[in-house]
Amino acid sequence: LVLVLDFGGQYNQLIARRVREHHVYCEVKSYKTPLEEIKAMNPVGIIFTGGPNSVYEETSPRCGREIFELGIPVLGICYGCQLMAHVLGGTVSNAAEKSEYGKTRVKLDKSSKLFSDLESEEICWMSHTDFISQVPEGFRVTATTDTCPTAAMECAEKNFYGVQFHPEVNHTPHGTDMLGHFLYDVCGCTGDWTMTRYIEQQVEAIREKVGDGKVLCALSGGVDSSVVAALVSKAVGRQLTCVFVDTGLMRKNEGDEVEQAFATRFDSNFVRANAQDRFFNKLKGLSDPEDKRKAIGEEFIRVFEDEARKIGAVDFLVQGTIYPDVIESGLGDSAVIKSHHNVGGLPSVVDFKELIEPLRLLFKDEVRAMGLELGLPDYLVWRQPFPGPGLGIRVLGEVTPDKVAILQEADWIFREEIAKAGLDRSINQYFAVLTGMRSVGVMGDGRTYDYTLALRGVTTSDFMTADWARIPYEVLDRVSVRIVNEVKHINRIVYDITSKPPATIEWE
Ligand code: XMP
Repeated sequence: LVLVLDFGGQYNQLIARRVREHHVYCEVKSYKTPLEEIKAMNPVGIIFTGGPNSVYEETSPRCGREIFELGIPVLGICYGCQLMAHVLGGTVSNAAEKSEYGKTRVKLDKSSKLFSDLESEEICWMSHTDFISQVPEGFRVTATTDTCPTAAMECAEKNFYGVQFHPEVNHTPHGTDMLGHFLYDVCGCTGDWTMTRYIEQQVEAIREKVGDGKVLCALSGGVDSSVVAALVSKAVGRQLTCVFVDTGLMRKNEGDEVEQAFATRFDSNFVRANAQDRFFNKLKGLSDPEDKRKAIGEEFIRVFEDEARKIGAVDFLVQGTIYPDVIESGLGDSAVIKSHHNVGGLPSVVDFKELIEPLRLLFKDEVRAMGLELGLPDYLVWRQPFPGPGLGIRVLGEVTPDKVAILQEADWIFREEIAKAGLDRSINQYFAVLTGMRSVGVMGDGRTYDYTLALRGVTTSDFMTADWARIPYEVLDRVSVRIVNEVKHINRIVYDITSKPPATIEWE
């Protein structure tokens, strides 16, 4: 185990992720973790994260000298490096004019274990104002930049290393190698940790926490909720009940796919609440997007509540919160429950004692890897994001069962052609929208007056901004020809070529 001690840096989990990429197990703990607890964990190495503070501020997070007396290798990053220098008797100075930010050329001393096989000059990501003007006794400087006299330092006998830059971010192209050197060459890690082992550890931890308690999970069919349900089911089997609310606003076949995956593959109780009529009733007469979203969100809670009532009080509620959600809702504070628009307010209507969030530390691609390992089918693991209100916000204006059925067919054809063209993993989100607009067309010898369907495809890394996907014309052509031929009531297809901003990804 490698321990990542968190001093409040914005990249703390990224460090953990990089360590896991080296197949080394690690845990992130607060800098406040008592020394006794650290000793009991028996880590082979400790990494101090960066942090926004200056070591001289009264309130800045600190550690005592004792942690350096455990005989455990330590790597300090950014603030962590300055703290190491400060605690061990070096000097940290503050000179605003020396502030260094961004990609920086760093001269490396290749005799350091950390840098042994790198170039003598590497690009590294810097973000600091304070700097180490004098390293502690026994240390030597192993890297410098034009403005920073100590870009890295070490005391090799004691296995203490510090870097002023951030090896964990992609902007430091060989940062991962440097971390690898610390893990393998300094801490002696063997790199035998895998997702299989992580699953075993999580299963153990969940079993221990749950005991013989009852667990409830709201399964949406999205990647995160599917993976978390599969994991908890592996851990506690029939003590878990998964409630899947079928709103009638899912994509074609989706409800059956979710049911099939869970009802047959996993040994837990699976409840499918067929609430289509309830949702369509609530949506009658509503055409404003916000009203529709609110109606769907509220009805979702009502349906879930009704199902939860049948089950009775439970001890634990499972949520598929993943690390990016944790960042969004305020770093690392475990008391925050994400007010996710899918399940907004859910915990407050269900009688439960505690939340279980076993994916909290994982990034999306790690969640997918876990899903595959747990035996979930590809179509669930690689599912693109789908908004909580579902097709309810992709049928513009009033939502009716007929319109949803038209959209489901058209969307299905679009997705099928994108997959056939091999574009399904490169376009991050793609779907069809049934606009409320109708226009005149000609079919055979007759006049038609039918709906216009919009196709949307975007490329994005974070869904906060997005560009429209350059889908080849031939693919668009096949989609268009098929949809107007195979789906009744659509006689015109348009492709959305706006980026976000100014447009959003969804139309409503
Ligand atoms: P927008 O339309 O805001 O969408 O550009 C950004 C991403 O969020 C998804 N989205 C939602 N997801 N509940 C969700 O879980 C919602 O109410 C919701 N609205 C939008 C959208 O599909 C895109 O991936």
